[in-house]
Amino acid sequence: MAHVALQDTAPGLGGLLYERYREAVDNPIAWSETLDVLLGHRSVRAYLPDALPEGTVELLVAAAQSAASSSNLQPWSVVAVEDPDRKARLAALAGNQAHILQAPLFLVWLVDLNRLTSIGKALDVPTDALHYLESFLLGSIDTALAAQSAVVAAESLGLGTVYTGGIRNKPLEVSEELDLPPHVFALFGLVVGHPDPAAPAAVKPRLPQQAVLFREHYQARDFAQPVAAYDRRLRTFQSGQGLPERGWSEQATTRVRGPEALSGRDRLKEVLELLGFELA
Ligand SMILES: Cc1cc2nc3c(=O)[nH]c(=O)nc-3n(C[C@H](O)[C@H](O)[C@H](O)COP(=O)(O)O)c2cc1C
Repeated sequence: MAHVALQDTAPGLGGLLYERYREAVDNPIAWSETLDVLLGHRSVRAYLPDALPEGTVELLVAAAQSAASSSNLQPWSVVAVEDPDRKARLAALAGNQAHILQAPLFLVWLVDLNRLTSIGKALDVPTDALHYLESFLLGSIDTALAAQSAVVAAESLGLGTVYTGGIRNKPLEVSEELDLPPHVFALFGLVVGHPDPAAPAAVKPRLPQQAVLFREHYQARDFAQPVAAYDRRLRTFQSGQGLPERGWSEQATTRVRGPEALSGRDRLKEVLELLGFELA
């Protein structure tokens, strides 16, 4: 592991790990600039209107295309939206998320099975496997891996980002807005811009590792203690950010209580079929 320097003085040593968990953690075995970026992640919802440097989109897409891809099928595309009117329409469709308007760039990440369908047609070979749920899942996995690589790239350059799952509230309208052909689905958006230093976002703590990390096999576990600790830490985070205080367990269970909590996405299977995905 010669390429990973063990450091005593890394800026993230202890600090970013503490912020991520809001509790004392053992010193990491090593540190790197990449870990600084990964552990320093925070979603940004306040942006300056400043334009991005020329070539930013292409650089982020190169980072995205560098992610692994299932069987190298590369079953995704991305639409870079910079036109203020189109951003405004997409912001409205995503539940009036103001940061989409504020920031200069909105990337819409697409599961794209159209490209392979077209190539199959051109070569006169069947592409029936694309009609199976597995292909939609594969496309979603690859799209998410690609987008996350773009997020890490953007954050490494000092830019801010926030994902926008809200565009799945109105998938047909989003498809129409972006002229998507059949077999293409807008999985989520990604706002990219310069964070507004007047409203800095903080690192949001995560569940203690004792709630998420198993060794060798899954074990029945009492989550009460780590979740109670996390509820307290998230409240502290919220009060520091001037947000209403609400424990994670209450927030998360409200979000999964039933189809009415899905903001219209309970119809997604039906909508996907309309968009040409058979999900067999
Ligand atoms: C796929 C996905 C969709 C998301 N959609 C939204 C969204 O529509 N609006 C929003 O403000 N944040 C959205 N988020 C951001 C999450 O709320 C955020 O990542 C989470 O609260 C953790 O906070 P952090 O990213 O600052 O660590 C989304 C995140 C993901 C991964």
